[in-house]
Amino acid sequence: MNLESVLFTQGFGSRRQCRARIADGRVTIEGTVCVDPDADVPTEALTFTVDGIVWPYREHAYLLLNKPAGYECSREPQHHLSVFSLLPPQFAARGVQCVGRLDQDTTGLLLLSDEGKFVHAFTSPKRKVPKVYLATTRHPLDDLQLDALRHGVLLHGEPKPIAAVSANARDEHTLELTVLEGKYHQVKRMVAAAGNRVEALHRERIGGLALPPTLAEGGWQWLDEADLGVLRKG
Ligand code: URA
Repeated sequence: MNLESVLFTQGFGSRRQCRARIADGRVTIEGTVCVDPDADVPTEALTFTVDGIVWPYREHAYLLLNKPAGYECSREPQHHLSVFSLLPPQFAARGVQCVGRLDQDTTGLLLLSDEGKFVHAFTSPKRKVPKVYLATTRHPLDDLQLDALRHGVLLHGEPKPIAAVSANARDEHTLELTVLEGKYHQVKRMVAAAGNRVEALHRERIGGLALPPTLAEGGWQWLDEADLGVLRKG
């Protein structure tokens, strides 16, 4: 692939901007400045730098973000900041989208990608991927509420009750809830239907992929092949 296309596909602006960046000597390949936008560069295991920042070449971007509260999962947020403001601008430029949405006040594991098939597969209602949430509840949890969540609660506008895969109290006010669907405000609505109220919500896991404990709030990382394999297995 020529160097201009490498930068273009990785989100470094228009083709003209990419050519100019290269010609200005801002791009290195394996430690050497390359000023030729037409230079042929093998993309296999390629890393390059732009203005000193190291970038791996990836045909598709698959990312994980530790979402803080107060950010919307939208490129055009209405009332809060966008989760994209936590990421390098190259990702939005190459069409990265959120894989499903978390509410602005929900924290934790958020996946993002620019591969349409991946985004679709994980947001399709047919794809039942278990998602593990930790909900801090206003009122103490009790067995009646946990049983209601396990057996199914009827949410407004839904034709039949929705049951959690599991519902356990980690402590009096901390509910660990696993659900398969990704309906609008699902956890908050389920907890409300069971007679309690969510005060804070955190997503800990999607399928076999857990939020890395070392990743700070607001931090992001690339998903590697092992992560993707774990996710695809569900
Ligand atoms: N359920 C909710 O209520 N909110 C989220 O952000 C995710 C799941």
